[in-house]
Amino acid sequence: MNIQQPAAKVNWATGNLEGKKVSKTVRKLKHLEGVFADEEAYSSMDPETVVYEVEVLEQEQPGKEGGLLFGTSYLYPGKVGDEYFMTKGHFHEKRDRAEYYWGIRGSGLLLLMDEQGVTTAEQVFPGSLHYVPGHIAHRLVNTGSEVLAVGACWPSDAGHDYGSIADRGFTARVKESGGKAATETG
Ligand code: F6R
Ligand code: ZN
Repeated sequence: MNIQQPAAKVNWATGNLEGKKVSKTVRKLKHLEGVFADEEAYSSMDPETVVYEVEVLEQEQPGKEGGLLFGTSYLYPGKVGDEYFMTKGHFHEKRDRAEYYWGIRGSGLLLLMDEQGVTTAEQVFPGSLHYVPGHIAHRLVNTGSEVLAVGACWPSDAGHDYGSIADRGFTARVKESGGKAATETG
């Protein structure tokens, strides 16, 4: 029998993925127009500021039915005005596709919003495990002072629907208030 190398290696302390099929996406402030509430603070910041990076093991072609994708997101600490750095957030294009998230490093919140606009939040910390059911939009927020690294595994045909979030946004925001993270709805 021919024993082969695995598809990739994961550094479980940092989340870093290494492998031939690992892709990397960098999201800078300039890619996040309209995401943060304080537009004045947003336009006064360096658009080249990196807000988050995503490594994805594309063992299956994204879009292909039946496979799984696996990734790590690294969300840097920072704020736009008093609002913490966060991911764009999305529903899956195929709405019923679910996903697992798990905390690796740092601390933050996972915002979960249903199609009626009801948003809940879960604490993210090293070892936290989060089930994101289908039909639920999800967004990570870094409320800490170090990088928030979060692992994820999701169906390869899930896709991302960013448009619905760009149109309506999430119904909750996470801001610093009196030195602490506070959620604001409405
Ligand atoms: C995949 C998934 C994550 C996010 C990543 C970046 O379904 O949920 O891998 O894609 O955390 O967030 P977005 O895609 O919202 O920019
Ligand atoms: Zn997702």
